[in-house]
Amino acid sequence: MTDADALDTDGLTRREALKAAVAVGGAAGLAACVDRLDGADPIPAGDGPAAHPERQYAWNEFVRTDDAGNWQLPTHQTLLYLTLPGDAPPTEAERETVRGALDALDEAYAWSHEGLLHSAAYSPTYFERFADPLAVPDDVSLPQPTPLADYETPDFDTQDVLVHLASDRPDAVLAAEQALLGEADEVNDVSVPSALTDALDLDARRTGFMGAGIPHEKGDGLEGVPEPNPIPEESPLFMGFAAGFRQNQATEDYVAIGEGPFAEGTTKSVGNWRQRLADWYGEQDFDQQVMEMFSPGHAEEGLVEGVGTNLGDDSLIDRFADSVVADAAEYGRVGHAQKAARANRDENGDPLLLRRHFESADDDIASLHFPSLQRSIDQFEAVRRAMNGVDATEATPAVRQRVNNGILEYIFVRHRGYFLVPPRSLRALPTASGQQG
Ligand code: HEM
Repeated sequence: MTDADALDTDGLTRREALKAAVAVGGAAGLAACVDRLDGADPIPAGDGPAAHPERQYAWNEFVRTDDAGNWQLPTHQTLLYLTLPGDAPPTEAERETVRGALDALDEAYAWSHEGLLHSAAYSPTYFERFADPLAVPDDVSLPQPTPLADYETPDFDTQDVLVHLASDRPDAVLAAEQALLGEADEVNDVSVPSALTDALDLDARRTGFMGAGIPHEKGDGLEGVPEPNPIPEESPLFMGFAAGFRQNQATEDYVAIGEGPFAEGTTKSVGNWRQRLADWYGEQDFDQQVMEMFSPGHAEEGLVEGVGTNLGDDSLIDRFADSVVADAAEYGRVGHAQKAARANRDENGDPLLLRRHFESADDDIASLHFPSLQRSIDQFEAVRRAMNGVDATEATPAVRQRVNNGILEYIFVRHRGYFLVPPRSLRALPTASGQQG
């Protein structure tokens, strides 16, 4: 039994209690968390915004990696969706307020999974306040979000600002949130000159977690997870497999906007996907799961063991990306990764999307928050549309719109929003032409 698994007096493991604290949030969450972490190491302080990377999404060098070199996202994550009241461009005072709140986080916390990683991003609705068009190169698009399949009916996140907080330290995520929301005037011994909520209104708060074992631990009693809890204990995802293999991810260099005032920024799509896993676990054996998650070839050749960490740093999907239609005809099933990969490569075979998804138990529902970074939103949309597998449905009646068609039978999009992640120096209420004060 690890320390994190040790039972406290109220019967929760320490890890369960910490995750619950982030989900609850606010002063109560932080207090519960600090109690549990009594005696924990201090959280390393930051060097200020000028010393932290210009790319707000420069996380890869600052997180843990596993034995195969795959980047491990921070355990605790929170998404704050905020709006700027009215339709006018922000005032200089509002900009200063936002700048002060965000700069304080860089003073307070080291830029690392042991401190705090964070970013502020802006929606197309935000940029519509300005007379000028968004100053991005021709290869960058930032449209309003839209359904990407005939049957999709997500709520669109058109709030102005998305702030993303991530750390292995739940007390860092919670204290940072409190400071941003005006519930504390100090964060990790740094005084906070202003709160985001002095200028912006909080519209939605969503939380989640990443880490092998946590989905199983959290799974009992969640809507979407059948009983008895079938999620493999070593899985980082509710669906029982590992994801985010390094060779199947774009690099941060690749997703960086190349020129103009927003150079070194990127675009971010964030979906939230509810999962209904009774049939996934009840009606599919392991090989069928592998077929639908990866590809029929992966099952045929026995490439995936357990949750799939045996794959190392490459899902090997490139070998099967061209056989979607043939596999549909031969096996009556096609794979999720296989379909997505078809649209996720440039002419040199390099991946376009940097996926940073994490699981959630918000509202006691099993769901996945799916942030994806790419140079341009149209790349995300093409990959999502490729997941529809329309050509596979045309090849055989066995594959239907949402049946035997990857994992579409088990996942349901609830929210989708698109954002621009400016470079750090432009992260406080930038103008569309890329100025800041
Ligand atoms: C609950 C929902 C989802 C789960 C459990 C899931 C899981 C996985 C897994 C296990 C893989 C294979 C390993 C890897 O390369 O990471 C994968 C690949 C991938 N998934 Fe998902 N995924 C989900 C939703 C989505 C969505 C909504 C998209 C939207 C675009 C997406 C896009 C991709 C892409 C692009 C790949 C990589 C294919 C390649 O190699 O290029 N996934 N996913």
